Amino acid sequence: MEESALKQAWQTVTVDLGDRSYPIYIGDDGLSDAAKLRQMLQPCIRGQQVAVMTNDTVASLYGDQLSTALQGYSVDVFVMQDGEQYKSLETYTAAMDFLMAKRHNRTTCLIALGGGVVGDLTGFVAATFQRGVDFVQIPTTLLAQVDSSVGGKTAVNHPAGKNMIGAFYQPQCVVVDSTTLQSLPAREYAAGLAEVVKYGVIADAELFAWLEDNQAALNARDAAALAHVIKRSCEIKAQVVAADERESGIRAILNFGHTFGHAIENLAGYGTWLHGEAVAVGMVMAGRFSECLQLLPQGQTERLKQLLRGLQLPVALQDGVDSSAMLQAMGMDKKAMDGKLRFIVTDGFGTARVIDDYDRQALQAVLAEFC
Ligand code: NAD
Ligand code: GLY
Repeated sequence: MEESALKQAWQTVTVDLGDRSYPIYIGDDGLSDAAKLRQMLQPCIRGQQVAVMTNDTVASLYGDQLSTALQGYSVDVFVMQDGEQYKSLETYTAAMDFLMAKRHNRTTCLIALGGGVVGDLTGFVAATFQRGVDFVQIPTTLLAQVDSSVGGKTAVNHPAGKNMIGAFYQPQCVVVDSTTLQSLPAREYAAGLAEVVKYGVIADAELFAWLEDNQAALNARDAAALAHVIKRSCEIKAQVVAADERESGIRAILNFGHTFGHAIENLAGYGTWLHGEAVAVGMVMAGRFSECLQLLPQGQTERLKQLLRGLQLPVALQDGVDSSAMLQAMGMDKKAMDGKLRFIVTDGFGTARVIDDYDRQALQAVLAEFC
């Protein structure tokens, strides 16, 4: 069989936002195929200028491949340091200084090559440089491919809180090359799978069952399995974002497990847990909370735990976490509105909703069970 026949065919999912609609191209071996990549990027680049925004890790892995596809354009490459701590106003300012020094104008196109940190920062730079320029996402982590590159949430962190400075600003297109996941560290890969499981819980019981049946293929980073879960995840996210771009309602369901998860990350100190790991435990807690409120049939959280464990994800808190500290940390969550904690619960896999009126004792019981 010819090598090309082994590749998965490229697929397109559209984020339907009227005149700001954009395609998510999903496939493999895209970065190594300069002609294919150029074909996807070309319609997004209005002028001759392009600024590739990346970090030192990803630049050394995939920077040359992207540069090859961009031959003929005037390309400048901004390389930030690797790490969540660099998703900061300091890096934002350095990126702005870079674009000014290189004399980029309003027809420039920024290309984010990297994980969610690079994507969120690049999106915010694009939203604000000369009041807004075009940008493209080329996500290279699983979390970024199924979640952060889609939907237009852009941000940098403030010392007082994550993602506190940002804007809703949609890219021109997203290019997802699942081959890049082969170089991803195991923990980062598993953390991305947590977000895939989330889509099964909140929107697609069939996807959840498929994940249960295909754990080995997913753990082996099988191309066909990845094509399936990335496409389905992007479809779900695109649908939710199209219905509620600015999170005034339904988009909040994408935060299933995150109220608990953010508190877990916060209490342990950012950097201890990967975001997806904290979300995995947070989803188990949200599942138990849904059971305690008698919304989710008993036993379903056990199913969720089994799946997360099978995908090499944690399902319990580390020792020493105090339930009152958890409660306090949850109050810091951005989803707390007017002092009221909001939670995403599920009435059964495939559905989710937001609640802010709930039995406090059920919440205490869940915290006591885990802490
Ligand atoms: P990340 O961007 O820090 O990437 C994780 C690590 O993997 C980094 O060290 C990175 O250099 C490395 N890496 C990236 N691609 C690689 C590859 N192909 N091979 C080897 N190493 C690679 O982390 P992340 O999990 O991608 O993103 C987390 C960020 O995303 C957080 O800042 C979070 O707030 C944000 N986020 C945003 C949204 C959104 O809707 N905008 C949603 C979820 C998360
Ligand atoms: N990751 C949650 C959202 O995009 O809304």
